[in-house]
Amino acid sequence: MNIEIKNAYALVDGHIDRHDLYIEKDIITGVDRKPDGFTGEKTIDGQDRLVIPGLINAHTHSYMAMLRNIADDMPFMDWLTKGVYPVEDRMTGEDAYWGAMLAIAEMIRCGTTTFNDMQMHIHNTTRAVKESGMRAVISRGLVGEKYDRDDVRIKEALEEISDGEGTNGRLTFMLGPHAPYSAGFDYLRGVADIAKERGLGIHIHLAESQTEIDNLKKEQGLTAIEYADKAGCFEVPCIAAHCVKITKSDMELMAKKNVSVVTNPASNMKLGNGFAPVPEMMDAGINVCLGTDGAASNNTLNMFHEMSLLTLIHKGTHNTPVCINANEALAMATVNGAKALGLEKLGEIKEGYKADLAILDINTPSMVPKNNLLSSLVYSANGSEVDTTIVDGEILMEGRELKTIDLEKIIYEVNARMERLNP
Ligand code: NI
Repeated sequence: MNIEIKNAYALVDGHIDRHDLYIEKDIITGVDRKPDGFTGEKTIDGQDRLVIPGLINAHTHSYMAMLRNIADDMPFMDWLTKGVYPVEDRMTGEDAYWGAMLAIAEMIRCGTTTFNDMQMHIHNTTRAVKESGMRAVISRGLVGEKYDRDDVRIKEALEEISDGEGTNGRLTFMLGPHAPYSAGFDYLRGVADIAKERGLGIHIHLAESQTEIDNLKKEQGLTAIEYADKAGCFEVPCIAAHCVKITKSDMELMAKKNVSVVTNPASNMKLGNGFAPVPEMMDAGINVCLGTDGAASNNTLNMFHEMSLLTLIHKGTHNTPVCINANEALAMATVNGAKALGLEKLGEIKEGYKADLAILDINTPSMVPKNNLLSSLVYSANGSEVDTTIVDGEILMEGRELKTIDLEKIIYEVNARMERLNP
């Protein structure tokens, strides 16, 4: 659909001013310049609107939306073994599909247009992505060697990739070895070799907790970053989640190998893992992007909440208010995520870029007055201001009404399924 957004505030080149935007099919073809021969099929009055690039949630597990609020305020191992695992073990592919749909509904409502997902049930998240119209990068979580006898999960991952690749422009894939403590060294090296052969990126959890670091040091004499490097994970485009417990030389290594880091401040705090050295990683030249992690460890998938936490915790822990400004937080939630996921021409409002946009209603208390709309996005917005969400030029939500998915049915299905899944 060709869309004209007239006289709206829009975030262009790091500044918010009034702009006219023109969208033809899936592309932004004009910023303040009507493309030759443009015929609008829909006009959006931008008077009380602020248009931003759609937010990119660079690390989550969408199926885990089913596990929201299931295990809180408890030690990590109890959270995992008494809260998460018993339900996860009973979940079917169909349950995972409804979990993914719930996650997608929540993300669209908060202006997220792309998510990077590590999932456990093949075909179900991809089905939810295709039906909803979201943009996503999918990786099947790979754990081995002892859990993945005969490399069944690797085969599943490759099967899903060959089935899904090229079928939908909004869907791409990576390989997802879960973490150094769940993927043994030879297994991890095998996955890295396949990624290299097939031209795929790697999505992995690294250096999330002190226990992970202590065990690797004891068993291998390596940091988590050195371990992943030695296994070949950095020979391909790599996006590493968490990176909380890392050293200066880890940072130098990641910068040299062009590894992107996705920081997940809420998850790291909730699970008592501490604070990733984000300002230090930025200084080292690492591409840092932002993610929510799964709903069992957050417990929302709201990138506005995450942007606010990101800047506030680092100001607090570094004892300075000039640490990670609003523009940097927005870049981490948009263009840096696109770069980390290898998605070109995404994450900015520019001619020739993908029409993935969130449009906020600025006539709402958290956005008033207009002293600094850029600040309001990071420090006072909560996501409920998002009125319209557009992915690939398709309107997925307008007037806060979801257009491609049936929210009532999702709520019914998830609640009914959790009655069965709850211990
Ligand atoms: Ni995770």
